[in-house]
Amino acid sequence: METPLNLEFKDFVEQSLTDWIETLDLVSTHQSDHPQGLSQLKKSISYSLKQTGKRFRPVLCLMISDCFGVAPQRVVPFACALEMIHTYSLIHDDLPSMDNDDFRRGQLTNHKVFGEATALLAGDVLLTQAFFHLAKFYQNEPSLGLKLVSLLAEASGFNGMAGGQALDLAPDKGKVSADAIQTIHILKTGALIRVACEGAGLICGLPEEKIKRLRAFGEKLGLSFQIKDDLLDEDKIGENSFLRVLSKSETLALLDQTTSICREILSGLGIPEGSLSNLIDFNFQRSV
Ligand code: IPE
Ligand code: IPE
Ligand code: MG
Repeated sequence: METPLNLEFKDFVEQSLTDWIETLDLVSTHQSDHPQGLSQLKKSISYSLKQTGKRFRPVLCLMISDCFGVAPQRVVPFACALEMIHTYSLIHDDLPSMDNDDFRRGQLTNHKVFGEATALLAGDVLLTQAFFHLAKFYQNEPSLGLKLVSLLAEASGFNGMAGGQALDLAPDKGKVSADAIQTIHILKTGALIRVACEGAGLICGLPEEKIKRLRAFGEKLGLSFQIKDDLLDEDKIGENSFLRVLSKSETLALLDQTTSICREILSGLGIPEGSLSNLIDFNFQRSV
């Protein structure tokens, strides 16, 4: 699958996620009464987490920290927690009670292989363990750890991804407007991309003003990511796609405009031209 540019960072993320999956064995040794249930659960988690997604959110975190001269090792636990939450959101999103999809990333969806109950639990584990992962890795910096937990929880919950999913599932029939669609996009998809930027800024120890700018950058990048998704899904236009209320050329113009705003915000961050502007281009041009 296409990937956001930096293969070295992507490999770093893949390795960290694989290492994390292996830690699940430590827990299962205490559960000898139900080894099969636990091994199925682990297989189900591994199945979705090891699929070849773009890893857009974690690679974005690592690219930002790199721009500020911070080593990937310091950021990767947060980056992986984000990818765990993103993966959980996809497993649940594909369930029959939600989008009822059979394929994800070119493979059968989790519930098609492991059943709905296990798919639900795999999502539950990914969500909760993401926070455990953060607590564990940043325990020696409790103030930073708490801020990251709080940011990620907000971006994943009622005022973020899950709230956006609720709005997406129950649109105001007949009242769909470009503003309403934008709100859904900002919550459903934008929040996790925004927090990738903000969290990376916090870990880098940046001043308040730069973190605010990174937040604004992430917000626009997240919105442009979902506008691009709407355009990629033009053969199967969703209830809350911009293509419901705008023509294709208007939607392309909106993507262009949002992408330009991303570039403007980025230019005020005082980092060298390069990787992050390439990442903006990557989203503009991607085909998956
Ligand atoms: C898909 O996200 C769902 C949205 C939030 C638009 P991605 O396009 O990042 O999916 P993967 O992780 O690369 O499969
Ligand atoms: C995916 O949303 C799930 C989240 C954004 C949380 P969509 O339903 O719009 O995306 P696909 O088409 O399943 O990837
Ligand atoms: Mg879906």
